[in-house]
Amino acid sequence: MAVDQSGVWRFRELLPIVQDVERVVTLREGNTPLYEMPRCAELTGVDWLLAKHQGMNPSGSFKDTGMTAALSVAVERGFQWVACASTGNTSAAMAAYAARAGLRCIVFIPDGKIAWGKLSQAMDYGALTVQLKTDFDGCLNLLTRLVRQFPIYLLNSVNPYRLEGQKTPAMEMMEQMEWQVPEHLVVPGGNLGNSSALGKGFLEMKHLGLIQRVPKISVIQAEGANPLYRWFTDENQEMKPVQAETRATAIRIGNPASWKKASRVIEETGGWCEQVSEQEIALAKAEIGAEGVGCEPASAVTLAGLKKLVAAGRVKREQRVVLLLTGHTLKDPQYTIDYHRGELLTAAEIAVATVSERAQHEALRKPPMVLEAEEAVVLKALETHMATANAEDTNTTHGSPA
Ligand code: F0G
Repeated sequence: MAVDQSGVWRFRELLPIVQDVERVVTLREGNTPLYEMPRCAELTGVDWLLAKHQGMNPSGSFKDTGMTAALSVAVERGFQWVACASTGNTSAAMAAYAARAGLRCIVFIPDGKIAWGKLSQAMDYGALTVQLKTDFDGCLNLLTRLVRQFPIYLLNSVNPYRLEGQKTPAMEMMEQMEWQVPEHLVVPGGNLGNSSALGKGFLEMKHLGLIQRVPKISVIQAEGANPLYRWFTDENQEMKPVQAETRATAIRIGNPASWKKASRVIEETGGWCEQVSEQEIALAKAEIGAEGVGCEPASAVTLAGLKKLVAAGRVKREQRVVLLLTGHTLKDPQYTIDYHRGELLTAAEIAVATVSERAQHEALRKPPMVLEAEEAVVLKALETHMATANAEDTNTTHGSPA
């Protein structure tokens, strides 16, 4: 049965939100891999690092686990139209599930600030795509007012059924780890639905006696879109919206809807909130890519944030850490290409990088070679390249890299 192949509906006893489970809208979401990341572990200074890759879902992001749940509820309630405001991934997921269910869907996205992969998906799956000349916060604000005037089912993460679906990766993770709870889970923070949902998942498992304790859940934001970080470090713990700006467009959000839930998860689990710079995000993304895993920029904040948590002594070397990677690397290929061509970061951003960060950028950047299609030319270029690579390997083996 399709529903048994879904990594979300396998856990249906824990999400009793539909009457007829055989009628759910599923693309066989979930069942995502948990990868060991030995090289990232080494350069971060921890012994054991894993990445739960939610970008390996059918539409390429973690949003599918919530969308299967909420879309199934929309169908059961007889809605014909669904809508969401999005930085891209929610709209891609919603469009896919709406298409499967034969519903019509409208997406509001910020004009010019969404990655091509995501925009193309919304069109491919047949959504009515509305690009508004505002940011995500402006899109959500407008849509929330509009849905009151039409029979449209709102599918932003304020929808509680989305969070029900998005809690299941916590259960899946525990299955994959044979119920050995990691000490830390590190999650990117944008609208803050994901951290809230995962926290709910872990706390429910504890409540049910499936696990004895929960991991510390830490949320990482981009420096330019850091309202939760500001709340966390503000002695009065006030939430003040910010004007968001970051190249990690998925988390370019200044007024997160679920901040109260997320802040409770951080407090209840004993986690932290960190912020990371554009340069740190770019480097972490390249490091995750070089491990053969890859992710989109917003996911890479987890590794960049973990480095800071380790440096501050909040995460100890021997503690087990899971990074939650939220989106597939192909969601935002332009970012990756710009990075490798040396066109992503500004001189000012690179100037504040440490010496070792700069060396790491140099080692990781792989711009394409453009050559004449002549054997002698190609051979010479390859010989030079291989000699340099071999020399680097020799240096590294002898423990004396530049
Ligand atoms: N990572 C990716 C790849 C995302 O797309 C998002 C959010 C986040 C992290 C942050 O998750 O909002 O639950 O804290 N994307 C939303 C969207 C806002 O519209 O696709 P969050």
